[in-house]
Amino acid sequence: QTVHLEDYAPTPYRAPSTTLMIALHPTRTVVRNETAYEPAGNVDDPLVLEGDGLVLVEAQLDGMALSASAYEATPDRFVLKVPPKKRFTLTLVTIVSPDDNTELMGLYRSNGVYCTQCEAEGFRRITYAYDRPDVLTVYDVLVLADDTPGEPVLLSNGNLIASGKMGGRRYSHWHDPFPKPTYLFAVVAGVLGAVTDTFTTQSGKAVDLAIYVEPGKEARAEYAMDALKRSMRWDETRFGREYDLDVFNIVAVSDFNMGAMENKGLNVFNDRYVLADPRLATDTDYSGIEAVIAHEYFHNWTGNRITCRDWFQLCLKEGLTVFRDQEFSADMRSRAVERIEDVRRLRLAQFPEDAGPLRHPVRPAEYAEISNLYTTTVYEKGAELIRMLHTFIGETAFRRGMDTYFERFDGTAATVEDFISCFELDEPDAFMRWYHDAGTPTVRVDEAYVDGRYSLQLTQCPPEGGAIKPIPVRLAVLGQTGALDLSGAGVEEGSLCGDILTLKESATINIDGLNEEPIASVFRGFSAPVHIDRPVDPVRDMALLERDSDPFNLWDASQRLALGVLVDRYWGGSLEVDALAESIGRIAADPRMEPAFRAFVLQLPSRGTLVEVLAGDVDADKVDAAHQELTAALGAAMADTLAKLRARPAPTADDVRAAAAGERALRNAAQHLATAGGAREATVRQAMEATNMTDRLAALNALAAANAPEADAALKAFHDAFEDEPLVLNKWFSIEALRSDGRSVERVRELMAHPKFSLKNPNRVRSLIGAFTQNIAAFHRADGAGYRLLAEVATTLDQQNPQVAARLLTAFGEYRRFDAPRREAARAVLQDVQARARSSDVADIVRRLLKG
Ligand code: ARG
Ligand code: ZN
Repeated sequence: QTVHLEDYAPTPYRAPSTTLMIALHPTRTVVRNETAYEPAGNVDDPLVLEGDGLVLVEAQLDGMALSASAYEATPDRFVLKVPPKKRFTLTLVTIVSPDDNTELMGLYRSNGVYCTQCEAEGFRRITYAYDRPDVLTVYDVLVLADDTPGEPVLLSNGNLIASGKMGGRRYSHWHDPFPKPTYLFAVVAGVLGAVTDTFTTQSGKAVDLAIYVEPGKEARAEYAMDALKRSMRWDETRFGREYDLDVFNIVAVSDFNMGAMENKGLNVFNDRYVLADPRLATDTDYSGIEAVIAHEYFHNWTGNRITCRDWFQLCLKEGLTVFRDQEFSADMRSRAVERIEDVRRLRLAQFPEDAGPLRHPVRPAEYAEISNLYTTTVYEKGAELIRMLHTFIGETAFRRGMDTYFERFDGTAATVEDFISCFELDEPDAFMRWYHDAGTPTVRVDEAYVDGRYSLQLTQCPPEGGAIKPIPVRLAVLGQTGALDLSGAGVEEGSLCGDILTLKESATINIDGLNEEPIASVFRGFSAPVHIDRPVDPVRDMALLERDSDPFNLWDASQRLALGVLVDRYWGGSLEVDALAESIGRIAADPRMEPAFRAFVLQLPSRGTLVEVLAGDVDADKVDAAHQELTAALGAAMADTLAKLRARPAPTADDVRAAAAGERALRNAAQHLATAGGAREATVRQAMEATNMTDRLAALNALAAANAPEADAALKAFHDAFEDEPLVLNKWFSIEALRSDGRSVERVRELMAHPKFSLKNPNRVRSLIGAFTQNIAAFHRADGAGYRLLAEVATTLDQQNPQVAARLLTAFGEYRRFDAPRREAARAVLQDVQARARSSDVADIVRRLLKG
């Protein structure tokens, strides 16, 4: 059943405090929930609490057993028919079985460790509650466990009050003074190793930090600890936000549906975002750890201290927190490189989502299954909206607005409107349209030069059903020797403030008295999440490569040039690669640019990008062939440049800092192209011998992508070397799933029978099946074999873990872009999945995929 934003109503009762006693047991965990309620609205309303699969064993009102006629209890609901008209305490005892919890929502065990995931609606799988974000409660939690050998730790939110042994059991008592919604509740218990540290906040308060991991892997959590301390300091200096409890704990678990979870004072992480060692983790893993550690930590203010009124407001905490973590990474590493990475991800995942059947506004007005709204639109486009706000008003006013937000809404459950009201925006209602409309706007860019007069015209074309919105266009007009001074330019319609043009329907900038034609560099730093529709002109792009000082636009111009050739190959054209090779080779070799940036320039637009730009009726085999051919041709044409880049001195294997990572990225990007061009010898050696995982994996990838004859042996060696390292074995599964030699579907089926493949571990499923869905030629095989494979896995997984099943199925979001045989095959397969759907998660996704 669909939930609508307009139906929002507060609960008739508040729940100011909850005391939980959780006696852990693998199959019979007893949860005693004593919650104080008090009337907040109509006292004639019954008290209706949510549950999910619960078994009630006891119910008391103010300490007295409730008679059976006074309440109604089903697995998914508890109703107190006539609550007292004043404050009262309701005690409910339920029993749950962590070991039977394969959904990984609520209380479950991962590798023997008890842990919880409550966002969005997992708390109701532990006990009955108002399981919604606008009910804020102070929690007092007693965790009990059998006194098994190995000194288990027992953790919950807030500060530790007491712990010890009692009657053959261990206990710990936690109190969280900050009122919070159910989704931020957490418990963790098990035998874990720890790295500990302390952090002194800017006002001088000492905070005990700990990161808990599988015993023996403590050293692999050192980098995460370092990232945590840097995050804490950064939030103080950039946003004035200090940490508020005496302790901050992080626990890494190996079975987790998402990346991580910001539970108050007790973050729970997918272990891939904690554990790292240069021998086992890539530079990308390191930057991912840094970003996710920061993201979850930043939620303490944007999400926890100020939470969401309802789940429609999810972007209020997620978009804002992604913006904050992107800014953190930009400050820690390279701003230019961070921006390119973020936009690349946005265009590759969010733009297609926005154009397909799963499209939805950043702040949706309805949903059928909340778990399916943790999307790239809410997160990444949500972050872009915050970035536009920042661009419009500038850093100083943005910080002022954030301060107002923290001051005004601390301790509350807020809305997007509340947030926007804190900023000095000219037209807040117009800006809000960004939150209401689905789809990506297009901005048409036209230039004219006649008799010394240059005009740049921008025209906004909203997506279907969408409205005109204010769009910040950061721009420069570039002459031969640099940017023209725009202060005297004539502006029609739009308004120009510094280098930011505010675009509504259209805007024109005129510059007179020129003696040569300039070129515009528009949407510098990708200042708005829009499609830029500008006449294709390789000559202009070449000129931009010479003139532009904006790194994002420089990279974008290089990508457009490459994409032009790629599209031409797809259509069987015969454009030469020489000009492209020359232009990107020049940037790649330019010592004035940072190596990580140069590495990006050496990477061709992905197959997915090609699918995006082709208007429809895409032939996946031709996409694959065009990409392979162009990579090989460039590799051959650029052989000399690439050889020089590969010969650069390698950074030391255990240096994981950004500079070393950038150096490796450049050498490996060069190697990737060179390998495709036929220069494989050094690549084979690196794939077999590198002691740094980034280098080893890059070489392996290059061999596999080139379908090199040595790939099989190198992959086998890699497998045998890292079989017992789950996170590394995942990388192997992914490379195998992405091979494009025409037998990927069969290979993935074989790998599903690998002794270490299991549907129970989400990371493993994503590494094989999720990666497979990114293999364009294989997943979108014309005979539908790829679609059937995914459908089978998702249908089976639907019985165990619906969230992961539903997430895998979103890969069908683009099936309409492909040609008729593929579209029809996909449709038939989806109808079959629909007929067998068990969960609301899968049913919702498939219904939208078939309809939209
Ligand atoms: N709030 C978490 C984060 O973004 C994600 C939790 C998602 N959980 C879920 N069940 N969908 O940091
Ligand atoms: Zn988040």
